[in-house]
Amino acid sequence: MTPKTPQASLTILTDIVLPGETNPLDNLFGGDILARMDRASSIAARRHCREIVVTASVNHVAFNKAIPLGGVYTIEAKVSRSFFSSMEIIADVWVEDRKTSERIKAIEGIYTFVAVDVNGKPTRVPEITPETELEHQRFNSALRRKQLSLILSGKMKPADATELKALFE
Ligand SMILES: CC(C)(COP(=O)(O)OP(=O)(O)OC[C@H]1O[C@@H](n2cnc3c(N)ncnc32)[C@H](O)[C@@H]1OP(=O)(O)O)[C@@H](O)C(=O)NCCC(=O)NCCS
Repeated sequence: MTPKTPQASLTILTDIVLPGETNPLDNLFGGDILARMDRASSIAARRHCREIVVTASVNHVAFNKAIPLGGVYTIEAKVSRSFFSSMEIIADVWVEDRKTSERIKAIEGIYTFVAVDVNGKPTRVPEITPETELEHQRFNSALRRKQLSLILSGKMKPADATELKALFE
């Protein structure tokens, strides 16, 4: 399989926060944006492998800045690393200032998707070749996050998490 770049999977969704999508503070409701981030990440994973993909795990979501009613936000999702059948996708959410158009990062979500065949059996995906400095950083730390996710889901023994253990040695 020919390796692909993270850029090849880039998926961009831009939207505006409307009444009915907010919490009592008039900021975008968290569950609403999570669903959209999951969709964008799923499309990015599909673009990388051109197979059916399913969400295996939502590894981490950091809500750093609220997105207000009327705010315009953009989700940018890209595959950061692929393994055998699984892919890590990072979805960054940016809010843009109406007057200055300055973009501030509001949310970061890290997902694991798995490529499956029509019977739901995991299937192989292409390798990934990072290009930018950020893509290299995310690629290099992805195995730690995979091991942590597998430990938390009870699928890996902490003693087997070589990459995580190396952090403390
Ligand atoms: C995700 C799923 C396909 C994994 O199937 P499985 O039989 O457990 O397969 P495996 O144990 O071989 O895991 C497949 C890959 O997923 C990875 N994986 C599984 N669970 C994971 C988790 N919690 N975190 C990170 N990676 C995980 C495995 O490490 C493996 O990666 P690799 O092939 O790249 O090495 C299966 O559990 C499933 O279908 N879950 C339901 C998915 C779903 O309905 N999602 C919501 C709607 S899309």
